[in-house]
Amino acid sequence: MSYITFDQVCKDYPAGDSVVHAADHVSFGIEKGELCVILGHSGAGKTTVLNLLGGMDRATSGRIAVGDRIVTDMNDRQLTEYRRLDVGFVFQFYNLMHNLTALENVELAQQVCPNALNPVQVMEQVGLGDRMNNFPAQLSGGEQQRVSIARALCKNPALLLCDEPTGALDSKTGEQVLELLTRLCRDYSTTVVIITHNASIAPLGNRIIRLKNGMVQEVTINEHPIRVEEIQW
Ligand SMILES: Nc1ncnc2c1ncn2[C@@H]1O[C@H](COP(=O)(O)OP(=O)(O)OP(=O)(O)O)[C@@H](O)[C@H]1O
Ligand SMILES: [Mg+2]
Repeated sequence: MSYITFDQVCKDYPAGDSVVHAADHVSFGIEKGELCVILGHSGAGKTTVLNLLGGMDRATSGRIAVGDRIVTDMNDRQLTEYRRLDVGFVFQFYNLMHNLTALENVELAQQVCPNALNPVQVMEQVGLGDRMNNFPAQLSGGEQQRVSIARALCKNPALLLCDEPTGALDSKTGEQVLELLTRLCRDYSTTVVIITHNASIAPLGNRIIRLKNGMVQEVTINEHPIRVEEIQW
């Protein structure tokens, strides 16, 4: 049994008189501590799958398990708890609070999690020890993304879910962010899932899940993940 299991997971959205099968009998497994890349074109169902895994949305049918917990059986209170304690999210456009400093953004995570890490130490870890008192508008895109990773990491989550984390960044800054994510995966044995439409990022992963039209097209185990500096942008 894998750490994460999707078993015949479907997510339907109503679209006028018909339905969109955003996830269509999706099945896969991800092992603990893996860096998994979910790859697919726009509309393939990547965000749908990530939101189901992170408990931000409910499946129409099928079963999702993380460790010994069945996410698809959770009630609303259990889902809130799961999102709050077990899952760290990183979004394409950072989603930082603009009226709070970088450090205060990270401290928000500390306030909702009893076993949170020290926010100052986490900021240092993402290389922003000297920018803690800046507001998001005073930081570059890559720095803002590193704050959002620090915020997710501060929760000390079992799962780090990243939806197009380099989508808004140039390749150089994107490399710094990917370097950070691969290091977190390696050093903390955090299970990291990265969504991308960019095939050149895929070989970073131990596991690559290709989605197309809401379906799993292919799952590849990659015995020799490349290093970030080897990405051919
Ligand atoms: N809340 C929703 N209501 C209706 N349809 C939706 C909703 N969310 C997603 N869809 C549809 O489900 C399909 C999959 O969407 P999803 O956002 O998962 O794709 P994606 O692979 O993340 O694409 P992108 O790379 O553009 O972010 C698309 O056809 C989309 O229009
Ligand atoms: Mg998406």
